[in-house]
Amino acid sequence: MSNVVIVGVQWGDEGKGKFVDLLAQEIDYVVRFQGGNNAGHTVIVDGKKAALHLVPSGILHEGKICLIGNGVVLDPVVFVEELDTLIGQGVDVSPNRLKISSKTHLIMPYHKVLDKARENKLEKGQKIGTTGRGIGPCYEDKVGRVGVRASDLADPDLLKAKIAAALKEKNVLFTALYGIDALAVDAVFDEVMAVAPRIIPHLTDVSSELEQAWNEGKSVLFEGAQGIHLDIDHGTYPFVTSSNTVSGNAAAGSGVGPNKLDRIIGILKAYTTRVGEGPFPTELNDATGELLRTSGGEFGVTTGRPRRFGWQDIPVLRESARLNGLTDVALTKLDVLSYMDEIPICARYELNGQETDAFPFPAVLPDAKPVMTAMPGWKCDISGVRKWEDLPEAARNYVEYVEREIGCHITYVSVGPERDSIIIR
Ligand code: IMP
Repeated sequence: MSNVVIVGVQWGDEGKGKFVDLLAQEIDYVVRFQGGNNAGHTVIVDGKKAALHLVPSGILHEGKICLIGNGVVLDPVVFVEELDTLIGQGVDVSPNRLKISSKTHLIMPYHKVLDKARENKLEKGQKIGTTGRGIGPCYEDKVGRVGVRASDLADPDLLKAKIAAALKEKNVLFTALYGIDALAVDAVFDEVMAVAPRIIPHLTDVSSELEQAWNEGKSVLFEGAQGIHLDIDHGTYPFVTSSNTVSGNAAAGSGVGPNKLDRIIGILKAYTTRVGEGPFPTELNDATGELLRTSGGEFGVTTGRPRRFGWQDIPVLRESARLNGLTDVALTKLDVLSYMDEIPICARYELNGQETDAFPFPAVLPDAKPVMTAMPGWKCDISGVRKWEDLPEAARNYVEYVEREIGCHITYVSVGPERDSIIIR
């Protein structure tokens, strides 16, 4: 099998884990390349269930090698907690199977404090609704060239000096601006050093590992986190996460050439959800939205927050296909729409009296109005269907409409939560 990138094409939570799980059966390596423990999904393999945030979901598949690339931000304490959970379930997490790039930046305790303090201080309307995991402040330090990298764990003097330098600045913010206690250098150092011996054995050069894998004829799956419209450049800025979530970052975030990315699968839910603040033009704030949120189980794995619910947005998807260079698509949770009389879809936008096929730029999005169309519903249970031709005609029409509009083949249709509830076209 060739190398595959899996990305979410909406605002995250599209059901990427299920397809990593499906494809992991045929590949040798699973690599995470961006984000951190702001992500989260529950994976069940061979009766073993784990809510994973950081460790690639391929870890539950025996024999697969899992890599955490340089583009990830890694909370060392959370990583060790996840290791312990997996060890408790009898999963092999030895350093020859689970490896971290030495270049990966670490989320330090002060990043988490800053993330929460900042969110608390922002006025309503300005809040991002972050997961509070320290993701943004960690990426800021990386780009500001003052971050702590995983390799620094092996050099305690350097680590302490970096912590001292960071706190010199951050403690001023904590005390003078946010009115919270300063952090002590020794306390932060001790917290991180306490887990360092568990992390150091996992450190490696991920880029070289991947080169070697390919020299041996192995195949690799790049596991994206979040969704394209949370991308720091291309998303609904500033209501985004702090990394590039687009498929191109699979190369930069793991240290491989873009020519290694053969197939790019976009995961797309039959409707849209969003967690946190930010524009969401097709959002539904009524009883139907509430009902579908509940039947779709739309509550965050990381924070438990109810996900905002809305209809499919074709301009969003078109932009995603372009930004990612999608080769094909997996449509998830089609079964959740089963009992609708008709299924509303945003086909275009109206902006300044003119209709457009494009998703409007975030700054003008508040002035844009979704132009809605509707497809007939199929009004029956489809969760047992495993063949395309056995789907009701109305369900096939819905899938084909989305496919036509975004110009990308829908290869997989997921019709239920079970591992095998997937139609392959
Ligand atoms: P941060 O990534 O914690 O900084 O949060 C920034 C924005 O991204 C917030 O709106 C979060 O709710 C959202 N976000 C971060 N990770 C995920 C995810 O895995 N799924 C959905 N939304 C996410």
